[in-house]
Parts: sequence; structure tokens; C-alpha cells
Amino acid sequence: MNLKEKFLKLKKEKKCLVLGHNYQSPEIQEVSDYLGDSFELSIRAKETDSDLIMFCGVDFMAETAAILNPNKKVLMPDLKAECPMAKMLNPEIIKSYRRKYPEAAVAVYINTTAVTKAEADVVYTSSNGGKICSALSTQKILVGPDRNLALFIQKQLPDKEIIPMPADGYCYVHKIFSLFDIKSRGFTEAEILVHPEVDMELQALADFVGSTNQMFNRPKKSRATQFLVGTEIGLIHRMRKEYPDKEVYPLNKYAVCNTMKLHTLTKAYKALKEERPIVRVPEKIAVKAKRAIDRMLEIMNEK
Ligand code: 13P
Ligand code: SF4
Repeated sequence: MNLKEKFLKLKKEKKCLVLGHNYQSPEIQEVSDYLGDSFELSIRAKETDSDLIMFCGVDFMAETAAILNPNKKVLMPDLKAECPMAKMLNPEIIKSYRRKYPEAAVAVYINTTAVTKAEADVVYTSSNGGKICSALSTQKILVGPDRNLALFIQKQLPDKEIIPMPADGYCYVHKIFSLFDIKSRGFTEAEILVHPEVDMELQALADFVGSTNQMFNRPKKSRATQFLVGTEIGLIHRMRKEYPDKEVYPLNKYAVCNTMKLHTLTKAYKALKEERPIVRVPEKIAVKAKRAIDRMLEIMNEK
């Protein structure tokens, strides 16, 4: 039996749900029960009746699964898989912004650690920031950490004042893209799809801006046959498999999230066998963070 077969056999025996983010490497994508963006994976984690979950993504995603499932075991093959952007917003920054803008609500990106979510009024993801912020009653909303995503939300909500918190949060993977990537490729017929974490000048030139799932679904609704995709390259593998009749290219093949790629099938098999490392969130923090996540889920369920 090869490693993939051994992993799948053990996964079945242990009834483990394996969740893989769209940026995972092909070997992890191929053994995942579900692939998705941060929002879809949090729903999958909430809905499962399996007592054992393996999360192949970065820290904040696995923490969200653990917060939504306090009585279940959540494993992550490599605990060093952290999101550097998530660290750009912390409780101290939120408290200082709240002092400066006492009238504003605080909405934080799901790409934040549990302690940061615990200080927020609501959580949003790259797929629902506009909907979540429009449902809040305040006119001013503190939004962070990603500045580009905050500006993307502002564009959708001209009647609100969206204040990026901190002023300059960013994702190093999505900062790699430039106008040169678009103009130099010579794909005049291709649709350009980008993530809202890319700079605004690129968003303005793109045909579509959305979360990794929204980009993944785009070719189903489009007549185009060529797509240039401006996000982490893991999504390209999934799209090429799904759309063998379409041409899918990375906008920049060097857009790699190093920590997402820390998970390997070898580490995943070891973690499943030993049932560790386990992702733990202290109960006091988890209870507070869950309120902000639940608020997002409630808004998403409203008509
Ligand atoms: P998605 O929720 O769109 O998959 O994005 C997660 C992420 O980390 C983007 O860099
Ligand atoms: Fe974080 Fe950027 Fe990696 Fe997404 S791609 S997990 S935002 S560092």
C-alpha cells in the first residue's frame, strides 16, 4: 500500500473528517474530504458529526474549527502553519482603535487569531465582508487586518465609513502581484480573477474579485476559455482538475504561501496515527471568539 492508500484507510477507520484549504498542495488536496475557502471550511467544521477533524490550512482556520467544536479533537499536521497577516491585528490594536472611535463597530477578518476574534463584534471572510458589514447598525466600522480587503468592502458600501485597522495590514503572498503581471502576459482574451487581498489598482483591472471559492466557481458562469488567476498557486491545481476544457494560468507562479505548504502527506499520516498535534484554544477565549463567529453565521443565514 502506498502512503496515500494508507492515509485513506486510516482516515476511514478513525472516521476522521479532513478539511483542506484551496491553497494546499496537490497531495493534500487529493486526500481531503472537502476543499474550500475559509467560509466554506468553517461551515463544514460546524456541520460535521465526526469527532475527529484534521485541518490542513493555517492556524486561524484550525482554531475556528476548534472554537466551533469544543468537544471534538482538531488536528493540524504542522502547528507551525501560521498566517503572518493574521498577526498584524491584536487585542491591543483593537482596544486603541475602540478608544479613538467609540461609536464604531469592530469587524475582523477570519484571518485573525482567536484572541483577536475574542475582542471583535463580528467576523467576516473574503467572500462575505460586504454583506456582514452592511448588516451592522453603525455607520463607522473598524475593519482589519487586511487593508485591501477593507477597501474592497468600502467600495461595496458607499454609505458606510470603513476604517482599516491597522492602517497597513497586508498579505505578503498577494502583494507579489503587479500591473506588469497582467499587462505582460499577452492573454488578451483571458478573464482575470483576483483575490480581494491584491492591491486596488489590480482589482480595478480584473474582471472578477472574490474569495478562493468564488474564483473557483467563476468558470462555470463564464463563457471565457482562458483564466488568469491572481491568488496563491494551490488554487490553480484545483481549477485545472475541475475544468480540463479550460485554460487556467497563475497570474504569477511565485505566489506561494510558505506556511500553507508546510503540510505534507507524510506529516498528515503521522498526525492521524498519533492523533496529535491537537489545536487548542483556551475556553475563556473560545467562548468570546465564538460569539463573533456565530454573529457572522447568523447574518449569513438571514435573508
Ligand atoms: P479565502 O477565504 O478566500 O480562501 O482566503 C483565505 C486566505 O488566506 C487568503 O489569503
Ligand atoms: Fe495568510 Fe496570505 Fe497565506 Fe492567506 S496567503 S494564509 S492571508 S499569508
